[in-house]
Amino acid sequence: MKKILEVITEEVKQAFAACGYDAQFGKVTLSNRPDLCEYQCNGAMAAAKQYKKAPFLIADEVAARLSENDMFAMAESVKPGFLNIKLSGEFLADYVEKMQADAGRFGCDKTEHPRTIMLDYGGPNVAKPLHVGHLRSAIIGESVKRIGRFVGHTMIGDVHLGDWGLQMGLIITELRCRKPELVYFDEAYEGEYPAEAPFTISELEEIYPTASEKSKADAAYKEAAMQATFELQHGRRGYQALLAHILHVSVTDLKKNYQNLNVSFDLWKGESDAQPFIPDMVEKMKKDGFAYISDGALVVDVREETDTKEIPPCMILKSDGASLYNTTDLATIVWRMKDYHPDQIIYVVDKRQELYFTQVFRCARKTGLVDETTKLQFLGFGTMNGKDGKPFKTREGGVMRLEHLVAGINEEMLKKINDNQKAKENLEIGPEEAKETAGMVALAAIKYGDLSNQASKDYIFDIDRFTSFEGNTGPYILYTIVRIKSILHKYYGSGKHTDGAKVAAAHSGSEKNLMLELVKFNAVVENAFEETAPHKICSYIYNLADVFNSFYHETKIMSEENEAVQQSYIRVLELTKDILETCIDMLGFRAPERM
Ligand code: ARG
Repeated sequence: MKKILEVITEEVKQAFAACGYDAQFGKVTLSNRPDLCEYQCNGAMAAAKQYKKAPFLIADEVAARLSENDMFAMAESVKPGFLNIKLSGEFLADYVEKMQADAGRFGCDKTEHPRTIMLDYGGPNVAKPLHVGHLRSAIIGESVKRIGRFVGHTMIGDVHLGDWGLQMGLIITELRCRKPELVYFDEAYEGEYPAEAPFTISELEEIYPTASEKSKADAAYKEAAMQATFELQHGRRGYQALLAHILHVSVTDLKKNYQNLNVSFDLWKGESDAQPFIPDMVEKMKKDGFAYISDGALVVDVREETDTKEIPPCMILKSDGASLYNTTDLATIVWRMKDYHPDQIIYVVDKRQELYFTQVFRCARKTGLVDETTKLQFLGFGTMNGKDGKPFKTREGGVMRLEHLVAGINEEMLKKINDNQKAKENLEIGPEEAKETAGMVALAAIKYGDLSNQASKDYIFDIDRFTSFEGNTGPYILYTIVRIKSILHKYYGSGKHTDGAKVAAAHSGSEKNLMLELVKFNAVVENAFEETAPHKICSYIYNLADVFNSFYHETKIMSEENEAVQQSYIRVLELTKDILETCIDMLGFRAPERM
């Protein structure tokens, strides 16, 4: 469906043309004075210069023309030359009606140019528990993926596991200290390795930090870990079998954690999957003359003339020939291009890695790893801070594990829901349902709290505010949806129906405001996708929930006696609910039936 601003602009352009002016002056925008009008056009101001005529004279002519058009309830020229516009109730109702008939899409057409977009997000590290730093990547990435899918693109999410490097050698070394008799350490062993891992996830999570601490204090231990890493990377069988166990145990646990967050990945590739592509890639960079030795290391220059700050060369191999984080990211681009040929790759990573990605992107482009048409985008996010403005920590000052954070908020939510039930003396929600509902509302609180901020900004993770049922919060949005569901339930439960009923022109200002907000849906989604900005969907649904609640408080919906009027209300309510639910689905959470 054409966006409402396009429809209006078309009409106003025609009016300009009919008055003898260039049609391009007819561009319409949302009003920045909603108290005066709904839409506005400032074209007469610009036209005045071209036609050497007072702007208000032009605006007067166009307004007179538009007043004859029954699409508008008002078209007014205001000095010095603005055009203030209000839509007719019938035209608006007709647009809303068409949105509703467009089931599942609500006027937002799928893109005519679907692209393949890979999304690098999550980025957890094997054998280390997820902490709050990984939360933002997961939440933002999942939402961008869902928005892209809704718009009609092929979105491929890849978790890009941190499964390469010293951490693996550390775990192997610590295991060897504890259980030297394990067959994995016997170099002469040629048989099959056990299918069962020699550790559980909780052991693994304890082994890694222990090993990491030890290696800091003990140089020989660190040396052993580096040696183990080297041997692992050069194909030592027993170590590779251990790596497979570490991966399996860790990934099983990660999947469970991500599932609790309603986050899922299409690919569970890791840094280790990129390693086979490194030798050929490096060879080619050398052969093509891009990579050269500097201070013993192999580097590619990525400076550009227009740079205003120093962009250091991209290091490809260390002087000892070892690969780096860069090398892995570049080789990852190699297999991504080979297997999926994406039109775009978006990296949802902490914004402190921005310079690093600038180097990687430039190097990939310069050395021809990506097609000219493949866009590489860094979507950097800011830090999640505690109320003290410092990075979020546990009460004891440690790194907060994601699981614990989520569990704490679940508990808080359950308490609120139980209190709510008691206050209403409405004890129909049983303990099972209360728990499930608390989980849903908690997730909404966390995700909305995060996504409602522009991704690149730091924000304060304020549990009290995020879990509140009032204000710009996830629970408020859910509460609004549940409110609508309950009205619809009562309406249909009383045997009434809306068959054959149409949406009628708004019966009040608050109903018109609701409709004016509904009709923005397609433009908002498109814009949120183009700008990879889930926060735009948040602010839209916050406004939508607000105008809905004003309408609800001012309108007797259930006791409306005129059947047709009531039917029209119900249809507007249904569309409001559907749009809110479609939007929260794009944000990655769902609404309960009641709360
Ligand atoms: N594993 C990394 C970390 O925990 C994040 C990976 C980001 N993605 C990438 N392609 N480098 O910091």
